[in-house]
Amino acid sequence: MSALTGKKILLGISGGIAAYKCAELTRRLKDQGADVRIVMTKAAKEFITPLTMQAVSGYAIADSLLDPSAEAGMGHIELAKWADLVLLAPATANLIARLRAGFADELLTTLCLASPAPIAVSPAMNMKMYFAPATQENITVLAERGLHIWGPGKGPQACGDIGPGRLLEPSDLVQRVIEFFAPVPQLLAGVSVTITAGPTQEALDPVRYISNHSSGKMGFSLAEMAQRMGANVTLISGPVSLATPLNVKRIDVCSAMQMHKASLQDLAQCDIFIACAAVADYRPEHVEVQKMKKQQGVDDLTIKLIKNPDIIADVASANTGTFCVGFAAETQDVERYALDKLKRKKLKLIAANDVAKSGQGFNSEKNALTVFSETERFDITLADKKKVANQLLVIIAQQYLQST
Ligand code: C5P
Repeated sequence: MSALTGKKILLGISGGIAAYKCAELTRRLKDQGADVRIVMTKAAKEFITPLTMQAVSGYAIADSLLDPSAEAGMGHIELAKWADLVLLAPATANLIARLRAGFADELLTTLCLASPAPIAVSPAMNMKMYFAPATQENITVLAERGLHIWGPGKGPQACGDIGPGRLLEPSDLVQRVIEFFAPVPQLLAGVSVTITAGPTQEALDPVRYISNHSSGKMGFSLAEMAQRMGANVTLISGPVSLATPLNVKRIDVCSAMQMHKASLQDLAQCDIFIACAAVADYRPEHVEVQKMKKQQGVDDLTIKLIKNPDIIADVASANTGTFCVGFAAETQDVERYALDKLKRKKLKLIAANDVAKSGQGFNSEKNALTVFSETERFDITLADKKKVANQLLVIIAQQYLQST
């Protein structure tokens, strides 16, 4: 049996140059056992012929909402119900905008509205179109609605620009589909997990603050994966621009003091606390009510900082039996500093990463971790933050179950 045997995939193709990759994508999905039916927009047919797509999928192409003969075969509602997954690849800026607005004036967007199946969107467009505020906002909204956003990839584009906007390669897309259908072991079924994520902002005056480069991606990946493993997840997040993972309760905070308060609030109900946030160690002693003015003739300025509470240390000392996991972002002597934090903060586990290494950690898509308990050490090699989150949660779940 192949990885996708029996899975029904509705591949929606919109009009981008990357549509030529869809023949290969369809073949590779079928190699894995998937049943693939194809819907094309009018523009898609300018880039790859329906005949090619019919030949590789083995089915007539659906392309019209108002075609009586097509509706007599498999009507659009039937097709929407048939799919286990709707994969939109390539998804152009136009298709993404139309999905966001909820259009139903042609077959593909109508199917997306009518289908109860999960929808994966693989954006492909010129990088300037991708970075346009409208497109970014549309993608964020789709992700918030629970659609899966796969890509885009980075690299040379058909128009000569180099950057994000390429359709993921067919082999990567097939891998995403396989991972999507792979059952997630319910290692954290019914367990309450609270995760802190992102940076904190420590106000100096109404318009300025002290903060750091944390993107929140690691914490958000942990929240998503813990939820998929069956946990009830609360995500306490500093200011980040990330969509809330599906079925996760999110509490937005700004400062370390606010994060501290939110973390201690429902601690009695919290089985596992994972402190992934990059909390500011210090905050300005005084927050000016008015914007601080530049003083003529004064060349230096001293701001007194005072210590913030250590959130995870306070959670671990609260005697609620909560299993506490910390992070240690270090630039040197990673093991020594991590083990010191484990003991000092009374943690069960600490996940250490070397933020001096480029391409991992802060504000990056990837991470690598070394996880320490009092007696054991586990290495998680450099990978996409979702994969790292998955591996870390497997370790956390095992250690948590042993401790209960
Ligand atoms: O001491 P350091 O800041 O390096 O410790 C990092 C760990 O402690 C992380 O898990 C971080 O989320 C947590 N932390 C915290 N409250 C602070 C500072 C750090 O929870 N004020």
